[in-house]
Amino acid sequence: MAPFPPPPVNTIDWSNVGFKVREVNGHIESTYSKTTGKWTPLKFVADPFMRIHGMAPALNYGQQAYEGLKAFRGPDDTTISIFRADRNAKRLQHSAEVASMPPVPEDVFLAACRAAVALNAGFVPPHATGAAMYIRPQLYGSSAQLGLNPPEEYVFAVFVVPTGVYHGVHPVKALILDEFDRTAPRGTGNAKLGGNYAPVLRWSDAARAEGYGITLHLDSAKHEEVDEFSTSGFIGVARHGDEVTLVVPDSTSVIDSVTSSSVQEIARSFGWKVEKRPIKYSEIPDFSEVFAAGTAAGLVPIRSITRRIDPSSSQSLLKTREGHGRVSSAKQGEETITFIADGVEDAGEVCLRLLSTLKGIQLGKLPDEFGWRFEV
Ligand code: COI
Repeated sequence: MAPFPPPPVNTIDWSNVGFKVREVNGHIESTYSKTTGKWTPLKFVADPFMRIHGMAPALNYGQQAYEGLKAFRGPDDTTISIFRADRNAKRLQHSAEVASMPPVPEDVFLAACRAAVALNAGFVPPHATGAAMYIRPQLYGSSAQLGLNPPEEYVFAVFVVPTGVYHGVHPVKALILDEFDRTAPRGTGNAKLGGNYAPVLRWSDAARAEGYGITLHLDSAKHEEVDEFSTSGFIGVARHGDEVTLVVPDSTSVIDSVTSSSVQEIARSFGWKVEKRPIKYSEIPDFSEVFAAGTAAGLVPIRSITRRIDPSSSQSLLKTREGHGRVSSAKQGEETITFIADGVEDAGEVCLRLLSTLKGIQLGKLPDEFGWRFEV
């Protein structure tokens, strides 16, 4: 038998993996029936297509949820491990409940992720690239159903694709979306449902065309507090002398980011503090750094945060934070909070230190002190 894992395939330019779909060997599927109450044994499907009834609630009513996690090659490329798969299993169970779908048992989730990675192991990037195999589990209502009721059958599938990080490694400019609310105050914002993402596309596309690499959502009710970025969680850094505190939003409308919670644990291990609390828009200028945290994104240093706001509005920072070094207005009706000056391409020191420890653990360069690596 050939040794496992096989070396990385030579059909991909590993120095330029990027963030796009690449064809691999296949994916994993299992089907649940309400009648039997059971998941079928995992099946390997040797192509990227899924056979689904056109009247499935997944396609018509958005009855769907997904996950994102990553597998990494260890030093010497001789091992592969998946990062914190147990957390993603639990998060998918939460999303399933929100969208009236059966929970995928944790052991089925873990076995399917391991199988998807193992059967595509040649596509796990070389250790030296620092890149990963992105794992995309999905759950959806799959059998025909016209009425607005949960259907009889559900498919759980796991796809994989080799990737670099989503927003790249350099600082990006963020734009606050005030014209559009991602989710309702008592809505589905804390579940990883496709329906929370599709409506954002035209706004993030328009922002990108204006040079903003990432978009940020405030709370839907009042637009006074920070929720999350469209692709990832929000982390602010409060610094008082040597004391470092990570501040993360306490909001019922955000996804429980595995990357954010990992760097929070790493921060505590450094002796830093972590505060989970509502974050007012007006206090953002007091942070020394802001970064976005997500599986696909990794940690993204935020260069600046721009908001289109009438300067006479009570929410404008221009009067209340007059003279604050970070707040400026290059254009009428717009204000910007800057953390990293134009031309500087490095992340801040807190972000860099957290990222280097996170990547060290993921890539097996540091001991797995937290028990986060799931061997394939
Ligand atoms: C992830 O980070 O895994 C996500 O699902 C975000 C997505 C927008 C790429």
